[in-house]
Amino acid sequence: MTKVAEIFETLEYGPAPEAPGPALDWLAAHGRKFGHFIDGDFTRPGKTFASTNPANGEKLADISEAGKADVDKAVKAARAAFSGWSQLSGFERAKYLYAIARQIQKESRLFAVLETLDNGKPIRETRDIDIPLVARHFYHHAGWAQHLGKSFPDHVPYGVCGQIIPWNFPLLMLAWKIAPALAAGNTVVLKPAEFTSLTALLFAEICARIGLPKGVVNIVTGAGETGEAIVTHPDIDKIAFTGSTEVGKIIRRATAGSGKGLSLELGGKSPFVVFEDADLDSAVEGLVDAIWFNQGQVCCAGSRLLVQESIETAFIAKIKQRMKTLRVGDPLDKSIDIGALVAPVQVERVLDLLKAGKAEGGEFYSPDGDMPQKGCYVRPTLVTGISPAHTLASEEIFGPVLVAMSFRTPQEAVELANNTKYGLAASVWTENVNLALDIAPQIKAGVVWINSTNQFDAAVGFGGYRESGFGREGGREGMAAYLKPAWEKKLKAAPDVKRPTPADTSETTGIDRTAKLYIGGKQARPDSGYARSVLSADGKHLGEVGEGNRKDIRNAVEAARAALGWSNATAHNRAQVLYYLGENLDYRKTEFADRIRSMTGTSANAARREVDLSVERLFAFAGWADKFDGAVHNPPARMMAVAMVEPVGVVGIAAPLESALLGAVSLLAPAIAMGNTTVLIPSSAYPLAVTDFYQVLETSDVPSGVVNIVTGDAKSLATTLAEHDGVDGIWFAGSLADSTEIERLSAGNVKQSWTTRGLAFDWADPALEGEYLLSKATQIKNVWVPYGA
Ligand code: NAI
Repeated sequence: MTKVAEIFETLEYGPAPEAPGPALDWLAAHGRKFGHFIDGDFTRPGKTFASTNPANGEKLADISEAGKADVDKAVKAARAAFSGWSQLSGFERAKYLYAIARQIQKESRLFAVLETLDNGKPIRETRDIDIPLVARHFYHHAGWAQHLGKSFPDHVPYGVCGQIIPWNFPLLMLAWKIAPALAAGNTVVLKPAEFTSLTALLFAEICARIGLPKGVVNIVTGAGETGEAIVTHPDIDKIAFTGSTEVGKIIRRATAGSGKGLSLELGGKSPFVVFEDADLDSAVEGLVDAIWFNQGQVCCAGSRLLVQESIETAFIAKIKQRMKTLRVGDPLDKSIDIGALVAPVQVERVLDLLKAGKAEGGEFYSPDGDMPQKGCYVRPTLVTGISPAHTLASEEIFGPVLVAMSFRTPQEAVELANNTKYGLAASVWTENVNLALDIAPQIKAGVVWINSTNQFDAAVGFGGYRESGFGREGGREGMAAYLKPAWEKKLKAAPDVKRPTPADTSETTGIDRTAKLYIGGKQARPDSGYARSVLSADGKHLGEVGEGNRKDIRNAVEAARAALGWSNATAHNRAQVLYYLGENLDYRKTEFADRIRSMTGTSANAARREVDLSVERLFAFAGWADKFDGAVHNPPARMMAVAMVEPVGVVGIAAPLESALLGAVSLLAPAIAMGNTTVLIPSSAYPLAVTDFYQVLETSDVPSGVVNIVTGDAKSLATTLAEHDGVDGIWFAGSLADSTEIERLSAGNVKQSWTTRGLAFDWADPALEGEYLLSKATQIKNVWVPYGA
């Protein structure tokens, strides 16, 4: 007989299998065949595909594949349910969300086992992490439902939301999508990933059981084509997607110009940064959670280890030692660390990447040890001796593969951390609080965990920078993503007005008299050497502006990127600059009003009012600069999550044709107030209102490169901005057709985009003076910091 002392000596595991019985019984009760959940009922199964257990390849059930007609039926049900659901009091909606949370807790074991069977992730994770977080999400959002009126006054739900989720956290992603949507008063059509539909179907059953009004939640199952049918359905008001960056871009293009709200939570290649003074044993445990949690199939997985050179050898040795103790095997066994990947195709994807990586060099380490004979298993792997250009260091692997690189200085660590197209998350490990809090703001990522990793909570926003997507889930920002200002929903199409925009440009000999471009704080001649004339309302020649082209835009973007240090100016400093701009514009208001009048033929009063409002707007955003700030969230863990408001980066702005000064100022002011740098394209018809602004900029202490102005054909210049990878956000005021094109092109690097889509925005409306544009000028970074005993 083994003595207890001997067990302690060897720390041998004994298997502790969870019985699959109740989950298999639930499947059997449904004849192992499922239809969709539409209008409160399951439909009869149609064309089906198999859902299998990746741990052993056995079929679990047949799932229906929704075609366009099924999606349409679901959307109709959601639409019919919308008015009743959105008009319920917040308290009534809260009770439903609360009832869902309670049911999830009651059935938590069934959910956990079913999730493990369907997905292959260890039962320890589904039982202790996924399902409890799902319940927490519904509880948290029950609260929002009730407090909406006070927290988001004058906001309304979008309507019908189409939601498409991945397979790595099937029920948790469902909760992240459905809870805020319902709290806000939307109804939903959700599609789970084709590999993992079962817990969504059990969830549907719970919705019916608690008496959720029919049509509020509809679940349609299927693969990419079903997703496409949701994305392109004309009666869906908002799309929320989590999945690959590749599909995220497809969805951005497909929804361009549709006016559908859009949030994208995409891939990542998140850095895990270990400094020499870190608690190395804790960091090793953190790393296990960062990259081997859920077999590495985590969008925010800490898949790139960056370790300080002085401790590299020791730390790598510790990791290898720890890797030897990771147990790979049956996910229903409670003593398993690494379960099965979701499907054979995912195993293939990971192994193909490893093969490609091996061809590029590097050292590969995997512990020996028993592996199951069949099923979708991949050994934990560590790759060292590679450079940042290596495929495995840059591509999202989405498997149990860690790549390690070293750095010498904190600055080098930041550069390596940011050397990626993604920006989802980062972990920073050091015992030096100053160092941690110096590094966190420099990393371009939506979430930064200090001395911790993979922390999630309903009260804390989650989402990415750059090609990791836009929009947040969780927290106040996550709620905001399911609401719209009531006034915006009521906007009508603007009347089609023709303005005297001269189409032909003529080579000019008098180019020195022409208003030049404004790039990097200096007036610059347009690359083309051409100018365009500006006409008065009655068609007379008033002056000329430079005819900017692609090259000028590229120069302007370069200048704007070089000026990004503006975001480090204090908010007080930015406010002062904006006040100064307002003051200097006010000095010259008569001159500006005359200019507006001569170009547009408007009345003296109207022209003066436009200038006055422009001054007022500069003051308004100066006032906001140091007030539109973040929050400290209070998640259940002994941590605080500090929601920092950060700028988007370089924002391209195409100002509206009409209200040439007020429109340009209304967009420019919030962008620079929040620390962005800008490339502004003035109204094609009335550009002089903005070129006259150069002197105001020059006399107002605006640092070089913070505002760059390129005149010319607004549409073609904006197109270049939308395509440019050095531009992080694009705002375009113009027709529906042009807005559609700009949104489509913005998909290239997943820019945050905002367009007016030909709608009649009233630039004088005070609604454009606050949070509406400030929130578009910013993105939230949540920094998790251990706090309290
Ligand atoms: P995917 O992005 O294709 O699938 C995610 C969801 O989108 C699924 O529900 C799928 O049916 C749906 N979908 C696919 N094509 C669509 C389309 N054209 N229109 C609308 N919906 C569509 O991800 P996939 O192929 O399952 O995994 C591939 C890779 O993507 C992974 O290896 C991983 O690198 C990454 N990925 C990242 C995730 C994340 O959370 N960031 C989640 C899942 C995958």
